[in-house]
Amino acid sequence: MRVFAISDLHTDFRENREALARAPLAGHGDDALIVAGDIADSEAVLRDTLELLASRFREVFFVPGNHELWVRGEERSSVDKFQAVLRICGQAGVRTAPARVGGAWVVPLLAWYHPSFDVRGEGAEDELEGWSDRYFCRWPAEVMDRPDRFFLARNEPHVHGYDAPVITFSHFVPRTELVPRVRWLRFKGLPLVAGTTEIDEQIRRIGARVHVFGHTHIAADREIAGVRYVQNYFRPTADKPFQLVWDDADALSEPARQLFC
Ligand SMILES: [Fe+2]
Ligand SMILES: [Fe+2]
Repeated sequence: MRVFAISDLHTDFRENREALARAPLAGHGDDALIVAGDIADSEAVLRDTLELLASRFREVFFVPGNHELWVRGEERSSVDKFQAVLRICGQAGVRTAPARVGGAWVVPLLAWYHPSFDVRGEGAEDELEGWSDRYFCRWPAEVMDRPDRFFLARNEPHVHGYDAPVITFSHFVPRTELVPRVRWLRFKGLPLVAGTTEIDEQIRRIGARVHVFGHTHIAADREIAGVRYVQNYFRPTADKPFQLVWDDADALSEPARQLFC
Protein backbone atom coordinates (compact mmCIF):
# COMPACT_ATOMS: atom_id res chain seq x y z
CA MET A 1 0.00 0.00 0.00
CA ARG A 2 1.07 3.60 -0.54
CA VAL A 3 0.82 6.11 2.31
CA PHE A 4 0.47 9.82 1.54
CA ALA A 5 0.71 12.77 3.96
CA ILE A 6 -0.70 16.25 4.33
CA SER A 7 -1.36 18.69 7.18
CA ASP A 8 -2.91 22.08 7.85
CA LEU A 9 -5.68 21.93 5.25
CA HIS A 10 -7.45 24.85 7.01
CA THR A 11 -10.54 24.34 4.88
CA ASP A 12 -12.46 26.92 6.89
CA PHE A 13 -10.69 29.34 4.55
CA ARG A 14 -12.63 29.45 1.28
CA GLU A 15 -9.49 29.54 -0.83
CA ASN A 16 -8.30 26.26 0.71
CA ARG A 17 -11.73 24.61 0.50
CA GLU A 18 -12.01 25.46 -3.18
CA ALA A 19 -8.46 24.31 -3.85
CA LEU A 20 -9.13 20.96 -2.18
CA ALA A 21 -12.33 20.57 -4.22
CA ARG A 22 -10.25 21.13 -7.40
CA ALA A 23 -7.39 18.88 -6.28
CA PRO A 24 -6.80 15.57 -8.09
CA LEU A 25 -8.32 13.13 -5.58
CA ALA A 26 -8.91 10.26 -8.01
CA GLY A 27 -6.67 7.20 -8.13
CA HIS A 28 -6.19 6.89 -4.37
CA GLY A 29 -8.69 4.08 -3.79
CA ASP A 30 -5.93 1.70 -2.67
CA ASP A 31 -3.91 4.31 -0.73
CA ALA A 32 -3.82 5.57 2.86
CA LEU A 33 -3.68 9.25 3.82
CA ILE A 34 -2.24 10.78 6.98
CA VAL A 35 -3.76 14.16 7.88
CA ALA A 36 -1.57 15.71 10.58
CA GLY A 37 -4.07 18.15 12.13
CA ASP A 38 -5.50 21.64 11.56
CA ILE A 39 -8.40 21.08 9.20
CA ALA A 40 -10.78 23.56 10.87
CA ASP A 41 -12.17 24.67 14.20
CA SER A 42 -15.70 24.41 12.76
CA GLU A 43 -17.06 20.91 13.38
CA ALA A 44 -19.19 21.09 10.22
CA VAL A 45 -16.18 21.95 8.03
CA LEU A 46 -14.06 19.31 9.76
CA ARG A 47 -16.73 16.68 9.10
CA ASP A 48 -17.17 17.68 5.43
CA THR A 49 -13.43 17.60 4.76
CA LEU A 50 -12.88 14.27 6.53
CA GLU A 51 -15.83 12.72 4.68
CA LEU A 52 -14.48 13.95 1.35
CA LEU A 53 -11.02 12.48 2.02
CA ALA A 54 -12.45 9.22 3.44
CA SER A 55 -14.50 8.78 0.25
CA ARG A 56 -11.36 8.93 -1.91
CA PHE A 57 -8.72 7.06 0.14
CA ARG A 58 -8.98 3.51 1.43
CA GLU A 59 -7.79 4.64 4.87
CA VAL A 60 -7.54 8.12 6.41
CA PHE A 61 -5.74 8.86 9.70
CA PHE A 62 -6.11 12.08 11.70
CA VAL A 63 -4.92 13.74 14.89
CA PRO A 64 -6.43 17.04 16.07
CA GLY A 65 -4.30 20.15 15.74
CA ASN A 66 -4.64 23.26 17.85
CA HIS A 67 -7.38 24.70 15.60
CA GLU A 68 -9.66 21.70 16.17
CA LEU A 69 -9.57 22.37 19.92
CA TRP A 70 -10.72 25.98 19.77
CA VAL A 71 -13.94 26.67 21.69
CA ARG A 72 -15.03 30.15 20.70
CA GLY A 73 -17.97 31.54 22.66
CA GLU A 74 -18.83 28.08 24.03
CA GLU A 75 -19.23 26.69 27.54
CA ARG A 76 -17.41 23.42 26.90
CA SER A 77 -13.67 22.90 27.37
CA SER A 78 -11.05 22.08 24.73
CA VAL A 79 -10.96 18.55 26.18
CA ASP A 80 -14.73 18.26 25.51
CA LYS A 81 -14.06 19.49 21.97
CA PHE A 82 -11.28 16.91 21.61
CA GLN A 83 -13.76 14.15 22.46
CA ALA A 84 -16.24 15.60 19.96
CA VAL A 85 -13.54 15.61 17.24
CA LEU A 86 -12.78 11.93 17.92
CA ARG A 87 -16.49 11.14 17.56
CA ILE A 88 -16.64 13.00 14.23
CA CYS A 89 -13.63 11.01 13.00
CA GLY A 90 -15.32 7.75 14.01
CA GLN A 91 -18.52 8.70 12.21
CA ALA A 92 -16.56 9.69 9.08
CA GLY A 93 -14.64 6.38 9.07
CA VAL A 94 -11.36 8.15 9.88
CA ARG A 95 -8.86 6.38 12.11
CA THR A 96 -7.40 8.01 15.23
CA ALA A 97 -5.72 4.87 16.62
CA PRO A 98 -2.88 2.70 15.25
CA ALA A 99 -3.69 0.41 12.34
CA ARG A 100 -1.73 -1.69 9.90
CA VAL A 101 -2.04 -0.60 6.29
CA GLY A 102 -0.47 -3.18 4.00
CA GLY A 103 3.13 -3.70 5.05
CA ALA A 104 3.40 -0.86 7.57
CA TRP A 105 1.75 0.45 10.72
CA VAL A 106 0.47 4.00 11.02
CA VAL A 107 0.52 5.27 14.61
CA PRO A 108 -1.10 8.63 15.52
CA LEU A 109 0.57 10.56 18.36
CA LEU A 110 -1.47 13.16 20.23
CA ALA A 111 0.41 16.13 21.66
CA TRP A 112 0.42 19.81 22.44
CA TYR A 113 3.30 22.29 22.76
CA HIS A 114 5.34 23.44 25.73
CA PRO A 115 7.80 26.37 26.08
CA SER A 116 10.58 23.94 27.14
CA PHE A 117 10.85 23.12 23.42
CA ASP A 118 12.64 26.49 23.03
CA VAL A 119 15.98 25.12 24.23
CA ARG A 120 17.89 28.11 22.86
CA GLY A 121 15.70 30.59 24.73
CA GLU A 122 15.08 32.49 21.48
CA GLY A 123 11.28 32.67 21.43
CA ALA A 124 9.76 36.14 21.86
CA GLU A 125 7.13 35.90 24.62
CA ASP A 126 5.68 39.32 23.72
CA GLU A 127 4.76 38.03 20.25
CA LEU A 128 2.32 35.55 21.82
CA GLU A 129 -0.13 38.33 22.66
CA GLY A 130 -1.88 37.68 19.36
CA TRP A 131 -1.61 33.87 19.56
CA SER A 132 -5.22 32.69 19.15
CA ASP A 133 -4.90 29.53 21.30
CA ARG A 134 -4.54 31.85 24.31
CA TYR A 135 -8.07 33.09 23.73
CA PHE A 136 -9.81 30.17 22.02
CA CYS A 137 -8.56 27.15 24.02
CA ARG A 138 -10.06 26.49 27.45
CA TRP A 139 -8.40 23.81 29.59
CA PRO A 140 -9.84 22.17 32.69
CA ALA A 141 -7.82 22.96 35.85
CA GLU A 142 -6.12 19.53 35.90
CA VAL A 143 -4.90 19.94 32.28
CA MET A 144 -4.11 23.66 32.30
CA ASP A 145 -0.46 23.41 33.40
CA ARG A 146 0.63 20.73 30.94
CA PRO A 147 -1.81 20.07 28.05
CA ASP A 148 1.16 18.45 26.25
CA ARG A 149 1.51 15.78 28.94
CA PHE A 150 -2.27 15.22 29.06
CA PHE A 151 -2.19 14.22 25.38
CA LEU A 152 1.18 12.41 25.41
CA ALA A 153 -0.08 10.18 28.25
CA ARG A 154 -2.93 9.02 26.00
CA ASN A 155 -0.36 7.69 23.48
CA GLU A 156 1.37 5.44 26.00
CA PRO A 157 -0.70 2.29 25.32
CA HIS A 158 0.51 2.52 21.70
CA VAL A 159 4.18 3.27 22.50
CA HIS A 160 5.88 -0.10 21.95
CA GLY A 161 7.55 -2.08 19.20
CA TYR A 162 5.52 -3.22 16.17
CA ASP A 163 5.83 -6.26 13.90
CA ALA A 164 6.35 -4.16 10.75
CA PRO A 165 7.81 -0.73 9.83
CA VAL A 166 6.01 2.16 11.56
CA ILE A 167 5.01 5.60 10.34
CA THR A 168 4.10 7.86 13.27
CA PHE A 169 2.50 11.28 12.98
CA SER A 170 1.64 14.24 15.19
CA HIS A 171 0.39 17.75 14.56
CA PHE A 172 3.10 19.34 16.71
CA VAL A 173 6.85 19.44 16.11
CA PRO A 174 8.93 16.69 17.76
CA ARG A 175 12.47 18.09 17.33
CA THR A 176 14.01 21.54 17.64
CA GLU A 177 16.06 21.06 14.44
CA LEU A 178 12.77 21.18 12.53
CA VAL A 179 12.10 24.83 13.48
CA PRO A 180 14.40 27.44 11.87
CA ARG A 181 16.36 29.86 14.05
CA VAL A 182 14.23 32.77 15.21
CA ARG A 183 16.12 35.31 13.09
CA TRP A 184 14.67 33.60 9.99
CA LEU A 185 11.10 33.55 11.31
CA ARG A 186 8.44 36.21 10.84
CA PHE A 187 6.57 35.00 13.97
CA LYS A 188 9.33 35.11 16.58
CA GLY A 189 7.22 33.47 19.27
CA LEU A 190 7.06 30.19 17.31
CA PRO A 191 9.55 28.10 19.33
CA LEU A 192 7.38 28.65 22.42
CA VAL A 193 4.28 27.16 20.77
CA ALA A 194 5.73 24.72 18.20
CA GLY A 195 5.86 21.34 19.96
CA THR A 196 7.65 19.24 22.51
CA THR A 197 10.67 16.95 22.32
CA GLU A 198 8.72 14.41 24.38
CA ILE A 199 6.94 13.46 21.12
CA ASP A 200 10.33 12.38 19.79
CA GLU A 201 10.93 10.20 22.85
CA GLN A 202 7.76 8.30 21.93
CA ILE A 203 8.79 8.15 18.24
CA ARG A 204 12.13 6.60 19.27
CA ARG A 205 10.54 4.12 21.70
CA ILE A 206 8.22 2.98 18.91
CA GLY A 207 11.15 2.76 16.49
CA ALA A 208 9.37 4.66 13.70
CA ARG A 209 10.98 4.91 10.26
CA VAL A 210 9.02 7.98 9.18
CA HIS A 211 7.33 10.73 11.20
CA VAL A 212 4.85 13.17 9.66
CA PHE A 213 4.04 16.44 11.42
CA GLY A 214 2.50 19.86 10.71
CA HIS A 215 1.64 23.08 12.56
CA THR A 216 4.53 25.38 11.56
CA HIS A 217 3.56 25.59 7.87
CA ILE A 218 7.24 25.10 7.04
CA ALA A 219 7.85 22.20 4.65
CA ALA A 220 10.38 19.57 5.73
CA ASP A 221 11.68 16.26 4.47
CA ARG A 222 14.90 15.29 6.21
CA GLU A 223 16.46 12.41 8.05
CA ILE A 224 17.65 12.93 11.62
CA ALA A 225 19.30 10.05 13.50
CA GLY A 226 17.65 7.39 11.36
CA VAL A 227 14.12 8.80 11.20
CA ARG A 228 12.68 10.64 8.20
CA TYR A 229 10.68 13.71 9.29
CA VAL A 230 8.17 15.09 6.79
CA GLN A 231 5.96 18.14 6.84
CA ASN A 232 3.74 18.67 3.80
CA TYR A 233 1.38 21.49 4.75
CA PHE A 234 -1.44 22.22 2.30
CA ARG A 235 -0.60 24.80 -0.31
CA PRO A 236 -3.66 25.75 -2.38
CA THR A 237 -1.52 26.38 -5.48
CA ALA A 238 0.28 23.00 -5.44
CA ASP A 239 -0.42 20.67 -8.40
CA LYS A 240 -0.11 17.58 -6.22
CA PRO A 241 -1.28 18.28 -2.68
CA PHE A 242 -0.39 14.90 -1.14
CA GLN A 243 3.18 13.72 -0.50
CA LEU A 244 4.07 10.04 -0.78
CA VAL A 245 5.86 8.97 2.42
CA TRP A 246 5.69 5.18 2.17
CA ASP A 247 5.28 2.61 -0.59
CA ASP A 248 5.19 -1.10 0.17
CA ALA A 249 6.60 -1.74 -3.29
CA ASP A 250 9.80 0.19 -2.40
CA ALA A 251 10.07 -1.44 1.01
CA LEU A 252 9.68 -4.94 -0.46
CA SER A 253 12.41 -4.28 -2.99
CA GLU A 254 14.91 -3.17 -0.30
CA PRO A 255 16.51 -6.61 0.27
CA ALA A 256 16.61 -7.17 -3.49
CA ARG A 257 18.42 -3.87 -3.98
CA GLN A 258 20.90 -4.76 -1.26
CA LEU A 259 21.69 -8.07 -3.01
CA PHE A 260 22.75 -6.18 -6.12
CA CYS A 261 24.89 -3.61 -4.30
FE1 LIG B 1 -1.95 25.10 10.80
FE1 LIG C 1 -1.38 24.13 14.21
